[in-house]
Amino acid sequence: MIFLLLSLNIHFRMTVDVLLGLQWGDEGKGKIVDYLAPRYDIIARFQGGPNAGHTLVFEGKKHVLHTVPSGIFREAQLNLIGNGVVIDPVTLARELEELTAVGVDYADRLLVARKAHLILPTHRYLDKASENAKGKEKIGSTLKGIGPTYMDKTGRNGLRVGDLEAADFRQRYDNLKAKHLELLQIYPAVDFDLEGEEAKWLVAAEKLRQLHLVDGEYYINQALRNGKRVLAEGAQGSMLDIDYGTYPFVTSSNTITAGVCTGLGVSPQKIGEVIGITKAYCTRVGSGPFPTELFDDMGEFLRQEGAEFGATTGRPRRCGWIDLPQLRYTIMLNGVTQLVVTKIDVLNKLEEIKMATAYEQDGELTQRLPYDLCDESCQPHYESFAGWQTDLERVATYGMLPATAQEFIVELENRLDVPVTMVSIGPGRRQLLEKTQLMDK
Ligand code: GDP
Ligand code: IMO
Ligand code: MG
Repeated sequence: MIFLLLSLNIHFRMTVDVLLGLQWGDEGKGKIVDYLAPRYDIIARFQGGPNAGHTLVFEGKKHVLHTVPSGIFREAQLNLIGNGVVIDPVTLARELEELTAVGVDYADRLLVARKAHLILPTHRYLDKASENAKGKEKIGSTLKGIGPTYMDKTGRNGLRVGDLEAADFRQRYDNLKAKHLELLQIYPAVDFDLEGEEAKWLVAAEKLRQLHLVDGEYYINQALRNGKRVLAEGAQGSMLDIDYGTYPFVTSSNTITAGVCTGLGVSPQKIGEVIGITKAYCTRVGSGPFPTELFDDMGEFLRQEGAEFGATTGRPRRCGWIDLPQLRYTIMLNGVTQLVVTKIDVLNKLEEIKMATAYEQDGELTQRLPYDLCDESCQPHYESFAGWQTDLERVATYGMLPATAQEFIVELENRLDVPVTMVSIGPGRRQLLEKTQLMDK
């Protein structure tokens, strides 16, 4: 019996919990990962790259992470940049310098998977040339070289972190650069200081080579066998997923739970809790469909109250109401087991809050997202809810939330059929209310 219980316990702990964004990114993933990190041994990024900007606020300071997992400020946690991530050594070196400047000793706590792909300066050059050539049709890429790097990965041309250890690395780099320069001929010329960027890159690549490189898939599976608790940190949001997002206005990786398996080398049986994050409203940065987008004063109100300006590019984010059919879709794709609702404080002043509770297509209400969200014949159908019109500054527990705010959360739970475990009421690490103890292990 004891043996059975012990083995069940070990089995229970041998899972990777997943935390990811259910909208178009910037849901507050960084903050929640930082908060939850002490409950885990390893925090692992599984996809995306420096297009991500994850903001953490504590002790009156703001920190923005792009490549490094958001567990790095917690001293006892290991942080793994998984093989599904694409790494720009220059951005990573800058992030590491910033960490050193604030006294974070990452040397023994940051691991990099050898199979992660490298973003070359010419990938950024290509990103810029390609976006530029698209004109009005542009994706609104962060121009960090994400698309071209993942294209080289699937095109089987890419360079990986492990290649930095090869004697002929420079030759491999030059070969890929030469290919890129040829490819660039098809685009109208754009400004890019290749020589300057390359010089910085080569220095940073050498620094990356000296980090703690691991065979990520062996590392993570061994850690699980040893009973370590792993939290996989997503970047972007499910609506930016390369397969299921608002294609072609998406990023180039699988941002959904499935991406954890390929991005870290763990099997589907090892996936445990899936924590989906949604704002209490919705934002998007870059081009592409956004059914509940507000173009009026309310959109501007959300942008100002929510400080909705990109953490990576500083671009103003497009703002709109929360969209339940959209969330049902991403909850389905990810197998979400718990919801975290962030930024409810942004709605504090509102008398009336809206939710898109269905889409209206050809006179009928539906919960289904159309093949093409750009389809004008499909419009969101709204329902209104009472606001709480109360400052949440002094709220310390979920039970202290005004009744209307609790009703808003329960409404989301009931309509989305997933329990809300946490509600975020401000950017700070402590501004988080735990609704149930489901998260405690
Ligand atoms: P991420 O990419 O999902 O990590 O999110 P970002 O960091 O790009 O954007 C979220 C922004 O909202 C950051 O500026 C956070 O500091 C801030 N934030 C997170 N949670 C809350 C919250 O509950 N209330 C408010 N007002 N701001 C929040
Ligand atoms: P985090 O992790 C919000 C958007 C870009 C653009 C599209 C493609 O902070 O939530 P890319 O650079 O990948 O070629 O851009 O995806 N995008 C994000 N939007 N948050 C992000 O990351 C994003 N990463 C990419 O704005 O529309
Ligand atoms: Mg962000």
